[in-house]
Amino acid sequence: MKTIVYDTVPSTMDVAFKHIMENSEESFVILAKEQTLGRGREENTWFSPKGGLYLSFVLPMKDSLAREAIAMFHYSTALAIVTCLKKLFDLKIKIKWPNDIHYEGKKLAGLLIEYISSKQDFMIVGIGINVNNRTEEFPDHIQRNAISLIDIIRKESNINRIVEELKNQILRNSSLTLNQKFQHIVNQFNQNCIQYMKTIVLKNNKKYNCEGINVAGRLILTSEKTKKELEIHESKDLVSYS
Ligand code: BTN
Repeated sequence: MKTIVYDTVPSTMDVAFKHIMENSEESFVILAKEQTLGRGREENTWFSPKGGLYLSFVLPMKDSLAREAIAMFHYSTALAIVTCLKKLFDLKIKIKWPNDIHYEGKKLAGLLIEYISSKQDFMIVGIGINVNNRTEEFPDHIQRNAISLIDIIRKESNINRIVEELKNQILRNSSLTLNQKFQHIVNQFNQNCIQYMKTIVLKNNKKYNCEGINVAGRLILTSEKTKKELEIHESKDLVSYS
């Protein structure tokens, strides 16, 4: 898969989108050394100084994907990041639903998926990993909840090596999604999910047991009396877990 490398971009998501509009029918990767307007989920920004890994995979879709398959793409990508980091660095990392990558309760990586419906559909999979950018240099409000690879392993890592392994894992996991192996993704995801079988508190102060995700891509929450299903975009309703 071709990788196009930039020094500084506003966001690799926007550069990827521009490339799609200009030409491409093939998969490619946009990789940047820093971003000035990095985007996170739910309108958040993604602090993106030099030393971090910032990329967007562009995957053309043969057919339009249903809502469930797009949700599965989120989960399978989170799993791809987990597998990559475990393989290269042997880290004990977990996924915080829906798709934050955590190490000891702090966020190490995040992912943002944008689905483009056009003449042909495209999936843009944006991944940010704190690699050689030390969190002590992060703004205070991010520092509290973030961690970087260099904070954990105390040495610099080769970003290109991580990119290559991510490519392998993303391609492998996206084919699981495209071949509808949803149950496999669900099982793997739940095994790696921090909140699985924990007590979840929602914004309405109600407590639920977290039963994990289902093949429809929703998070299943149960209490003695009720059952609730959360969509990925409702993740803000979740206040805490224990
Ligand atoms: C999140 O956890 O909120 C998602 C963070 C996603 C950040 C990556 S960095 C590469 C790509 N370009 C962006 O602007 N965002 C994603």
